[in-house]
Amino acid sequence: MKKVVIFASGSGSNAENIILYFKNKIQINVAAVFTNNLHAKVLDKANQLEVSTEVFNKTELSDGTVLNKINEIKPDLIVLAGFLLKFPESIIEQYPNKIINIHPALLPKYGGKGMYGMNVHQAVLKNKEAETGITIHYVNKDYDEGEFIFQKNVSIINCKTPEEVAQKIHELEMEYFPKEIEKLLIRKT
Ligand code: GAR
Repeated sequence: MKKVVIFASGSGSNAENIILYFKNKIQINVAAVFTNNLHAKVLDKANQLEVSTEVFNKTELSDGTVLNKINEIKPDLIVLAGFLLKFPESIIEQYPNKIINIHPALLPKYGGKGMYGMNVHQAVLKNKEAETGITIHYVNKDYDEGEFIFQKNVSIINCKTPEEVAQKIHELEMEYFPKEIEKLLIRKT
């Protein structure tokens, strides 16, 4: 049984989708959801799906508290799904090639500090891009700069608002993120 730990800060639609995808599969299990936001909707979603949760603050993320909690679980993969704090090097060093992130754009475009959620979709529309997409990548110490694992593009020529772009991205994330996690974990056996 491979164990996945998810980090999320917000609504948690990706976390929920990943938990549901692996719910009845014996090879992979979502062991816990970690969040830095006590009010994040992801907590309700994880609770409802009976996945254990951990809430921590910014200090605990970097002072070893979160690392100790992760080490108790010994996950095969750490998945950042809408996690908005910088992931600490101390954890990255202990889990080389075992931490991945999803970004709602075609990196290297529209990455870096401040580029999350709706900010990304607004910037994409402002630049009159014909397409956008998702990037799943390994996490290294710089924002959005780790090795790419998967990208998928989508046309947005008919999108007029950032919400419409967000919907296109949401559909890609729902379809591809769990499958890519599964591929990574099964390949590692
Ligand atoms: C997702 O679209 C994810 O790609 C994005 O935040 C959203 C979280 O939604 N992540 C980033 O922008 C990271 N830079 P969710 O909480 O409903 O899964």
